[in-house]
Amino acid sequence: MMSTGIVAGSYIIAAVLFILSLGGLSHPKTARKGNLYGVLGMVIAIIATVFGHNIVNYILLAALMAAGGAIGLFLARRVQMTEMPELVAILHSFVGLAAVLIGFATYLDHGEKLLGTARLILEIEIYIGVLIGAVTFTGSVIAFAKLKGLLGGKPLLLPARHWGNLALGFLCIWLGIEFVSADNGTIYLIVMTAIAFIFGIHMVMAIGGADMPVVVSMLNSYSGWAAAATGFMLSNDLLIVIGALVGSSGAILSYIMCRAMNRNFISVIAGGFGSSSGTVSAKYEGEVIPIQATGCSELLDDAQNIVIAPGYGMAVAQAQNTVSELTNVLRLKGKNVRFAIHPVAGRMPGHMNVLLAEARVSYDIVFEMDEINSELEDVDVVLVVGANDIVNPSALDEPDSPIAGMPVLEVWKASTVVVLKRGMASGYAGVDNPLFFNENTMMLFGDAKQSLDSVLSGLS
Ligand code: TAP
Repeated sequence: MMSTGIVAGSYIIAAVLFILSLGGLSHPKTARKGNLYGVLGMVIAIIATVFGHNIVNYILLAALMAAGGAIGLFLARRVQMTEMPELVAILHSFVGLAAVLIGFATYLDHGEKLLGTARLILEIEIYIGVLIGAVTFTGSVIAFAKLKGLLGGKPLLLPARHWGNLALGFLCIWLGIEFVSADNGTIYLIVMTAIAFIFGIHMVMAIGGADMPVVVSMLNSYSGWAAAATGFMLSNDLLIVIGALVGSSGAILSYIMCRAMNRNFISVIAGGFGSSSGTVSAKYEGEVIPIQATGCSELLDDAQNIVIAPGYGMAVAQAQNTVSELTNVLRLKGKNVRFAIHPVAGRMPGHMNVLLAEARVSYDIVFEMDEINSELEDVDVVLVVGANDIVNPSALDEPDSPIAGMPVLEVWKASTVVVLKRGMASGYAGVDNPLFFNENTMMLFGDAKQSLDSVLSGLS
C-alpha cells in the first residue's frame, strides 16, 4: 500500500493535470493536449486511490472496474457524435446516483458512531450531498429522455409551480434540521431524497426544448457539486477538488449559454424558464423557392462574399468534410468564405467547432455569431447547412415564440440565402421558420452531404 504522503502528492499532481486539462480544452488548438492531461490525471488518481487506501476486497474492486471500464469503452466507441448530449446527460445521472448511495452508506455506517461537532459536520455533508445528488439523478434522467426524444420537448407548466418549488425547498430545510437533531434521522433522509427526486423531475420537465442546452450544462455543474459533496463524505481531497472544478466550470458554461440564449441565469437554476414557450408558434404560409444543386453552384460561382452557417443537420449528414472541400475550392477561386457559428448550433456546446476542426477547416475563417452578425448584410450568399432554429427570424419578431429573445444568425440580411435541408421539418424547438418563405431564400432539398457533393461537382 502507498504511504499517505505519496497518495497526497499523487493527488496534487492529478489535480494540477486536471486544471491543465481544462485550460487545454478551452481552445481547439490545445484541446488534444488538454485531453491527454485529463487522461494522465485520471490514471494517477485511480492508481493512488486503489493502492493508497484500505481496500477491503481487491477482487470485487477489480471486477467492478473491469465491468465499468468495458461498458465505458463500448459506449464511447459506439456513440455517434449526434448522441453525445444524451450520453453526457446519462453519465451525470450516474454521478448523482452515486452521491445518493454513498450518502446513505456513509450515514448508516458512521452516522451513529461519531459524536458532537464531528457528527454534525458529517451529517450536514451527507444531507447536502444526497440532496444535490438526488436532484442531479432524476433531472439528468429526464434530460436524457428529452434529448433522446423519448419525452416530448414541450415544457410541463404546472400551476403555481414556483410556489410549489419554494414549499419543497422549505420542507427540505425543515427535514434537514430534524435530520441533524435526531438520534436516527434515516426517515428524514429518505423523505428528503424522495422530494429531491421529484424536484429534479419537475425542474427539467418544466424546461422547453429550445432551452435544453442550458439544462445540460447546468446538470453538468450539479454533478460536479454532487461529486465534491461525495469527496467530503469519503474524506477524499481529490474528489473535492475535481468536483469543485466540474461544478464551477459547469456553472460558468451555464452562464455563458444563458447569455448566448438571452435567458435569466437565476430562473434557470430555479427551473421552469422559457415558459411563455407553452404557446405554439405561428404557422407560415406562402411559396418556397426551390433550387437545384447546379443553380447553387452557379450562385456560388458568381458570388464574392460567402458565409456558411452550419447546424445540427450538418452533423446528421456528416457533411463537414464536403463543406471543408467546398470551402477550399471556393477559396482557390479567390472568394472570401467564412463560417458563422451560433453558440447553441447542433446539440452540444462547441458541436460545430468540433466538426469543422475534424474536417481541418482553418480556425481563422470561423467566426462566432456576435462577430459576424453585423457583417451579414454585405454577404452575397449564405449557405445554411442543416440549420433551422439558429437562423429563425421569429426569435426576434415574435414575442410569443418559444425561442423569443434568443439571438440568432441574421442570415436573411444577405443578398441570397440557400438553405440545405431534406424537407420542411422544424428544428429541435419545434418552431416553424419564416426564413424559408422569404423572397431571397432558396431551398436546396436533400441530404446535406449529397447536395453539397453535387454543388461541388458543379463547381469543379
Ligand atoms: P435544428 O434547429 O435542430 O435544425 C436542424 C435541421 O437540420 C432540421 O430542421 C432538419 O430538417 C435538418 N436536417 C436533419 N438532417 C439533415 C440532413 N441529413 N441533411 C440536411 N438537413 C438535415 O438545429 P440548429 O439550427 O443547429 O439548432 C440547434 C437547436 O438544438 C436549438 O434549438 C438549440 O437550442 C437546441 N439544442 C442545442 C444544444 C447545444 S448545446 N448546441 C443542446 C440541446 C439542444 P429536415 O428534417 O427537413 O432535413
